[in-house]
Amino acid sequence: MNNTLRQLGLALGIVSLTALLASCAPPPQNQSTSTGSGETKSTESSTASSSTSSTSSAPSSGGVPAPGNDDPEAKKGMILFVQQGCNACHMNPASGKDYPDLRGLYGSKVKLADGSEVVADEAYLKESIVDPNKKVVAGYTPSMASYSYLKEEQINQLIAYIKSLKDQQPVYTKEAK
Ligand code: HEC
Repeated sequence: MNNTLRQLGLALGIVSLTALLASCAPPPQNQSTSTGSGETKSTESSTASSSTSSTSSAPSSGGVPAPGNDDPEAKKGMILFVQQGCNACHMNPASGKDYPDLRGLYGSKVKLADGSEVVADEAYLKESIVDPNKKVVAGYTPSMASYSYLKEEQINQLIAYIKSLKDQQPVYTKEAK
């Protein structure tokens, strides 16, 4: 006879059912306490609390610098700059050093790959957007596609944005090669 008697009577059917109450927390009602101590910035006191002051329509992603002036065209240009993905390359914290930083560009002298030099005026900025491989900045791989499909108005807004950055310091500089 076999001493090892293995009989597994598995009759354990314990079902422990813990009631899971996935209580969806209701969204907190943002009762915008609009800075009770308004520092007498009442430019238009009559239009107070007429609507939510949603000035945050511009995406603040990718480290895109704010326009350097109050030009509304420059602000539109910044939004376009993000929408069109310009910031995927230019002034991007992840890849910025591989692409020209556009701060301080306007009015400056740009060294081109063919050894010549050009002043970054409006015409140059426009050409750089519409026909980017015509004048290639020295030290960079010409990887930018043409944005000639943009409307004239949009190109001008992008130019206004880049112009507004002229007094800012470039952050991403290419390694000396
Ligand atoms: C895929 C990456 C990439 C994207 C996206 C891109 N660019 Fe560029 N851009 C480059 C590169 C690389 C250069 C430098 C080589 C050259 O001159 O073509 C350049 C050059 C420029 C220049 C000239 C810079 C200088 O120092 O003279 C301007 C202005 C410019 N781009 C604007 C834009 C705008 C505006 C957009 C969006 C509408 C954009 N770029 C999108 C890669 C990109």
